Amino acid sequence: MSDMRRLAALLLLAVGLLAVSATPVACISVPRPSRVPVTLHVMSQCPDAVHCENVFADVLTQVGRITDINTEYIGSPSSDPRYEPHGGVRCMHGGGECQGNIQQLCAHSIYSGFNPNGWFDFVLCQSENIGAIPGNGLECANDLDLNMDAFRNCTEPYGYGGQLLHESVMRTKERGITKSCTVVIDDEIVCVRDGGSWYNCPNGSTVADFVRQICQRYQGPRLPTVCANILDA
Ligand SMILES: *[C@@H]1O[C@H](CO)[C@@H](O)[C@H](O)[C@H]1NC(C)=O
Ligand SMILES: *[C@@H]1O[C@H](CO)[C@@H](O)[C@H](O)[C@H]1NC(C)=O
Repeated sequence: MSDMRRLAALLLLAVGLLAVSATPVACISVPRPSRVPVTLHVMSQCPDAVHCENVFADVLTQVGRITDINTEYIGSPSSDPRYEPHGGVRCMHGGGECQGNIQQLCAHSIYSGFNPNGWFDFVLCQSENIGAIPGNGLECANDLDLNMDAFRNCTEPYGYGGQLLHESVMRTKERGITKSCTVVIDDEIVCVRDGGSWYNCPNGSTVADFVRQICQRYQGPRLPTVCANILDA
């Protein structure tokens, strides 16, 4: 009898725990916009990156609402103390490029504007003159109304922006990506822009091609009209 009671008590406890642990599910299941992740693997001073970024600026004007634009950086991790100020990373075009990469990662990290892709304007601003990177960083940060203390803090030598760059470079390496610009949509490498031309783009490399590929991968609510028109055609 006491065994039965113990069992009943255990059952009650189990049900109680289930109820408690089940409660937060209500919060998690609130529908969230599932934007399609688009990642451009780039080097901030690379002309192919600029071309690629400008194409995606046009893509975003059409399907920005369902797109989550990101940049990751190409470089080599190094234990040489010379590279310590910017995260122990060596960049193809030199230390200035590493600083530019860091500025872009910091801008993304501290941006808190209403449009989640708004931070990308920082990249576009810097890319208007890649010869001026990293010198144009403060001006572009100012244009975007970033918190300047947070920006300086993140981008200063040995600041946490260096850590952001290191982590980004490692993610790029894990994907085996070496070319700037490599376009990844929803975890799949879909296109490369290198040496002034596009290649390895089985589903195309125009603005319309990228818009279509994003539409095709979107699973969330309220399909944009531009997607409905493309997918119906
Ligand atoms: C500066 O960076 C540190 C971390 O490195 C952080 O704890 C602090 O809040 C930052 N300050 C500002 C103004 O962002
Ligand atoms: C190209 O499109 C096809 C059909 O939608 C898809 O199965 C494939 O994954 C795409 N490949 C790339 C590299 O985008």
